[in-house]
Order: sequence, then C-alpha cells, then structure tokens
Amino acid sequence: MTDSVTNEALQTMRREVISNGYASGTNCYVASARGAIIKDVEGKEYIDFAGGIAVMNIGHSHPKVVAAIKTQAEKFTHTCFMVNPYGSPVRLAKRLCDITPGDFAKKVLFINSGAEAVENAVKIARYYTKRPAIIVFENGYHGRTLLTMTMTSRVKPYKLGFGPFAPEVYRMPFGDVVGPEKLEDFFIKHVNPEAVAAVVAEPVQGEGGFIAPPDGYFQKLVEICRKHGILFVSDEIQTGMGRTGKMFAIEHWGVEPDLIIVAKSLAAGMPLSAVVGRREIMDSIHPGGLGGTYGANPLACEAALAVLDIFEDENMLEKSVALGNKLQARFKSWQQKYNIIGEVRGLGAMLGLELIKGSDRSPAPEEAKALSATCFENGLSILVCGSYGNVIRVLAPFVITDEQLNKGLDIMEKGIKKISS
Ligand SMILES: Cc1ncc(COP(=O)(O)O)c(C=O)c1O
Repeated sequence: MTDSVTNEALQTMRREVISNGYASGTNCYVASARGAIIKDVEGKEYIDFAGGIAVMNIGHSHPKVVAAIKTQAEKFTHTCFMVNPYGSPVRLAKRLCDITPGDFAKKVLFINSGAEAVENAVKIARYYTKRPAIIVFENGYHGRTLLTMTMTSRVKPYKLGFGPFAPEVYRMPFGDVVGPEKLEDFFIKHVNPEAVAAVVAEPVQGEGGFIAPPDGYFQKLVEICRKHGILFVSDEIQTGMGRTGKMFAIEHWGVEPDLIIVAKSLAAGMPLSAVVGRREIMDSIHPGGLGGTYGANPLACEAALAVLDIFEDENMLEKSVALGNKLQARFKSWQQKYNIIGEVRGLGAMLGLELIKGSDRSPAPEEAKALSATCFENGLSILVCGSYGNVIRVLAPFVITDEQLNKGLDIMEKGIKKISS
C-alpha cells in the first residue's frame, strides 16, 4: 500500500487491525512533515501546535537530524550497546552531563521511552537508598507501564480497569506552597520519610493541565527531601529540551535534582530516553542491573547529538523564549475578551488555556474537545490536556515562522469565538 490512499481508506483498515485502546485524536494520516507543518496523505496541510506531544521542539525533519540518521543507517543500525558498544552514546552522555543542572559529577543511562526512563529512575533510587517508597503528585503524569501508570494521577483513561497497581507509591497535592510542616505532616499521615527513596515531580505538570508551581516551591521541597535523605527526581520528559525557555525547567528555580529524566524532544522523534544523575547514585548499581536491547540505539543517539548541535547553532533557546512571549501576549489578550478562558497556564513555550464555564467557573471539557476539533478542521493540530480535559495546550516547534504561528493563533481564536457563542 502507498500513501496515495485516502484518510478514509486507512481509517477503515485501521478499524480492522489496530486496537481500539490505541486511539488517535484525528482521522488524518500523515504523509510528510517539515518544520511546523504536517501534510496528510490527501495533501492537506496542518500547522502543528502539538509537536507529536512535545517531541518536535526543533521542528519536523530538521535536515541535520535527517542527515545524521541517514549517515548512521548506512554504517549500522544496531549491535546492542550492552554487547558491542559504539561511540555515540558516550559522546551524548558527556554532553548531557554538561548541560543538565548540577555542578557535580554525573553519569547517564540510555533507554527508549519516557516511561522506561521513569521506571529506571525509580529502580536506581530504590537501589541506592535501599528504601521502597516513592512520592508523586496529584495531576502528575509519568507514563503507562504498570509502575508509571501507578505514578500517574488521572484515572480515566490511564488507569481505569488496569489495576492492581504497583505498591509503595504515595501521592501529594502539587503546587501548594509546601511549608516544611505540610510535608512533615504527610510523613506522619501517609509514609515514614525514612522509607522514601525519591520524590518524583514534573517541574511543570504536562498532561495534568500545564500547571506551574509557585516560586519557591521546588526549593523548599528539595530542602525537605535532603533533610530526610530522599532523592529528588525531575521528570523533564515534557518540560525538557528547551520547552520552558531553559534547557530544563527545574533550572528556573536553581534546583539541582539528584536524577533528571529526559526523553521526547531529546532525539527529535527517534525513540530515546535518558536518566542523568549524580555519579555516586548512578554507579551504585551492579553491572548488568540496568539496560535493555534497544537502549542507546545508534540512530537515536546520532539524532540526539544533532539536536544538541542545533540547539547551539540555531539559538533554539532564544527561539523558545520568543515563542513563549508571543503566545503569552496573545493568550492574555484573549483572557480579557472571552469568558470561557480561565487561567493562562504553564511556563515559556509550554503554554495552555484553561476553558471554564458558568458562574462557578467549572471545567469545560466538551468545549475544549469542540475547540480542538474546529481547529483541526481549519488546519491546526492542537492538543487537549488536564485532569478535567479542559486545557488546550500549545507545544509548537520553536522553528515555527511568525506567519504560521499567527495563522494558527487566528484559527484558535476563531474556534474560541465559536465555542463562546
Ligand atoms: C512528564 C512525562 N513523563 C513521562 C511520560 C511518558 O513518556 P512516554 O510516553 O515516552 O513513555 C510523558 C509522556 O507524555 C510525560 O509527559
């Protein structure tokens, strides 16, 4: 079969062979994508405000990434780093150690997906501390494997019917200014601090609704962790690789995590994730205790090295900051104009609109769904998130042109007017 088939034909075939559980937000099948534009098999173009869920920060099919993958594919595609190692993961690890926060010796583990990286961070934290418990947060999202699904907050669709869940996962509210007493209270009512291996947090919550913490939150949290010998793990899977205007979001608050989890935009679409952590923690594990067949895949590592070059050579962080500022300005102006808009949420270029209705400002998930559908009909791909499904989020590539951005925002505004009327 070639891409000359229609969306409808593919959709019909899909219904026969792809699990219903593995659902897509739209019925458009992609033929190609460049920069911030996706083209479907029928030639219709979409401005991409979704970025493959925060994976395409540097844009689709960046020529340097494509060239790196092609060059590597000509040489070899797999030997397994655990069997016959090669140089790219070593070079990439060095660069990740250099760019992650913390002026101390670090080491890296490479695996494939975000969830797999979270799983490994927990394994490492438990091994190092010899403690079983993990603290996570309400509205947090960490993946869909058994452990990471347990760590994820939202029940439907992520957890419903998939239990029993993994043990020793404790959940706190997120974003309150955690006075030491409050966390100490959690230790009285929920879990003994001496049993806690790690607190795992997204610096800005992604799937949960683009929720940024108040200033000072993470500094205090980490102070309390340190007091009790608890590791602090920053899940930067969605916030990382420049999305919030810093390479890693936790840098906004000057916090140095013990372990940092990176995935998504790290390799611009090639499946690659990493746990970067303090050397003594990463090295505490016995040889062979960590790994996986495809971890540190050579195509993915070469792609990630190209991504890091692109960040340096093409001012990606500046582009991210500029994009964030433009989104903020437009979203704030809409907030004044349209009652349906509650909070403007997030940080930098990780920005969302909370949709609300009624005098009690209750969540408006149906309207969010309708808005994303209208946007899509008009050529804009955009995502909904939030525990109540009422936050429209923007994760556009940093390379989006002003013309594409404004066109996309105009489509959004038209949709907001429509759902407001
Ligand atoms: C913060 C965070 N953690 C973990 C994950 C899971 O990553 P993956 O889907 O690659 O397993 C995601 C994915 O959206 C995420 O946003």
